[in-house]
Amino acid sequence: MSIKAVVFDAYGTLFDVYSIQVLAEELYPSHGADIALKWRDKQIEYTRLITQSDPHNGSGSQYFRPFWELTRLSLEYTLDRLKLNRAFGQVEKLMQQYAHLTPFSENLAVLQTIKAKGLPTAILSNGSLDMLTAAVKSAGMENVLDHVISVDPIRLFKTSPESYGLVQKNIPVSKDEVLFVSSNAWDALGATWFGFTTHWVNRQGLPFEALTPRPHYSGPDLKSVLHSLKFID
Ligand code: LAC
Repeated sequence: MSIKAVVFDAYGTLFDVYSIQVLAEELYPSHGADIALKWRDKQIEYTRLITQSDPHNGSGSQYFRPFWELTRLSLEYTLDRLKLNRAFGQVEKLMQQYAHLTPFSENLAVLQTIKAKGLPTAILSNGSLDMLTAAVKSAGMENVLDHVISVDPIRLFKTSPESYGLVQKNIPVSKDEVLFVSSNAWDALGATWFGFTTHWVNRQGLPFEALTPRPHYSGPDLKSVLHSLKFID
């Protein structure tokens, strides 16, 4: 393996979305876990619906909306679906929390180690550039990430090949020289199909998707990426 760049997914991989569940539970006792799960599923469903329906022929997309907007719409839908009142600023509170997610505890040190070894690092995310920039800043990661790449300019979400193709537009490497790291199994699969070398961070001990192929590497947290890179045993 000759890895020349390490590229990370953002939400759930670098930034811990669990705090959303904690706040949702405070706002809606006994519904926190359900809200967090349904919200995430609907958010990703909207990205797929839009990218599947929009033409990929460069003529511009009609249905694309920035991820921040889809995040809000999917939260509103989730609360309505669960018949939960959202008249008292709950949506604003949850969106504010989403804007300031904390990183998983080991992440900064892992990024520092990769940077110290001289490998370029990047985020590739469905997230809008402004929300990614705010999250990177509040996580103190400005100095350990060389590129923050959003799908915004092409208006096509992951797992479109065009979205993964943005990496090589920013970093001159071949596909298999990219180690793409995601905690989302669907994202790890899409990136493997695209041709990246992939590492799935399986924090929740979930089975991988029933579709093949499996990612090249996996592990329970971001530290396991250092094993894949052979930086530690
Ligand atoms: C990201 C979300 C989908 O692209 O995890 O960051």
